[in-house]
Amino acid sequence: MIMVSMFSSLGQQDNLLTSCYFKMKIDTSLTMPQLPEALSQTGLQFTVATEEDFDEIMAMSQDIYGGLDYLPTRYSSWLQETNRMVILARKQGKVIALESVCVIDNGETMLVEGLRVAPQERGKGVAGVLLRFCSELVKSRYTDVKVCRLTRDDQLGPKDFQKYRIITKQGILLVRFSAEDLKLRLCELGLGGDFQSSMSTSSTNSLPVRLDQIAIHRLYLATDLMRSVLPNSTIIQDWQPFKPVPSNMAILMKKDIDWMVDDVSNPIVASLCTFPFRVPIGDDWYYLNIDMFGKNLDLARQQFLCHLQKHTATLQGHVMCQIFLDPPLWKPMAEFCLNTLNVELVKEYTEQCVVESDMV
Ligand SMILES: CC(C)(COP(=O)(O)OP(=O)(O)OC[C@H]1O[C@@H](n2cnc3c(N)ncnc32)[C@H](O)[C@@H]1OP(=O)(O)O)[C@@H](O)C(=O)NCCC(=O)NCCS
Repeated sequence: MIMVSMFSSLGQQDNLLTSCYFKMKIDTSLTMPQLPEALSQTGLQFTVATEEDFDEIMAMSQDIYGGLDYLPTRYSSWLQETNRMVILARKQGKVIALESVCVIDNGETMLVEGLRVAPQERGKGVAGVLLRFCSELVKSRYTDVKVCRLTRDDQLGPKDFQKYRIITKQGILLVRFSAEDLKLRLCELGLGGDFQSSMSTSSTNSLPVRLDQIAIHRLYLATDLMRSVLPNSTIIQDWQPFKPVPSNMAILMKKDIDWMVDDVSNPIVASLCTFPFRVPIGDDWYYLNIDMFGKNLDLARQQFLCHLQKHTATLQGHVMCQIFLDPPLWKPMAEFCLNTLNVELVKEYTEQCVVESDMV
């Protein structure tokens, strides 16, 4: 029988608790109800991650995603999120794998993120075991969960197609630049002004519109206007697929995102730009992720430029910029990046694939 030591960070549950209390063991001997026998024979222990585990997790995550790991930036906030659990698999006490599960879509979806296995333990089935363990854990705590979703960028094999349905796909355009160089280039192109002040919230000019909270709610929740813009009715924000429902919007509203559309009364292209965050590839390296929805190249390019303009105004250092977009837009957008913006293409076409399986 696997003993699951559950150390709860308690998150926002009680602000009166002291930090010393955070370290207390809460559910010391919580065992999984009806844990499948195969899982209990793996010899792995599973614990909920705490701040103290950070260094050990980073040690096993070296070189992950080619140095572009988002986990260092997200880790602390993940531990605080009430709808999320970060689970570690341990072998003889040592952390060998991590997975985060987050319950979204009004409690109906388990979103899997952050999955990683220590290099020396890969190819032995650890990821599969951890995935199954987390599913059991979520099922035991969130009875409404019906499906599991994850976003992948690797090549899916025949086994994956048996297991998963494809919800949607976006092309991934990854470019690299120096923030200062791009700022100069944008000036040369006549795009150096303060876009923000030149942008209005009316839909009468042709400039993209940056949305405030009220406009976001109106567009995404109160009307059907985004139905034809979003890929399979999915808001993908920095790899996380959300259905446009109020509980998800509450999650999204807590994040630093610029929401943009071309026209609030008849949107054709929409984009979400996640504020830049550091990645461990080197000093002064940032990730800038732009999720773009819609099929019109000119409008997509306009919004891309707006996001770049805003962030190059304040950013210093190197930027890895990922644009997720409708696959047919990838090539012309890549050409625009290379030939007009003079930025470097980091890799050829790859795909972001949102997949789903039933919880069994
Ligand atoms: C991808 C990775 C986690 C696989 O770990 P592993 O222990 O070698 O994988 P396994 O031996 O358990 O075999 C693959 C199992 O994991 C699943 N898997 C493999 N890659 C996966 C991925 N990217 N996302 C989700 N599941 C994945 C497979 O579906 C399979 O599940 P099954 O046992 O139910 O069939 C590991 O190679 C790794 O840490 N890579 C670097 C980080 C990374 O790329 N993470 C993926 C993020 S999407």
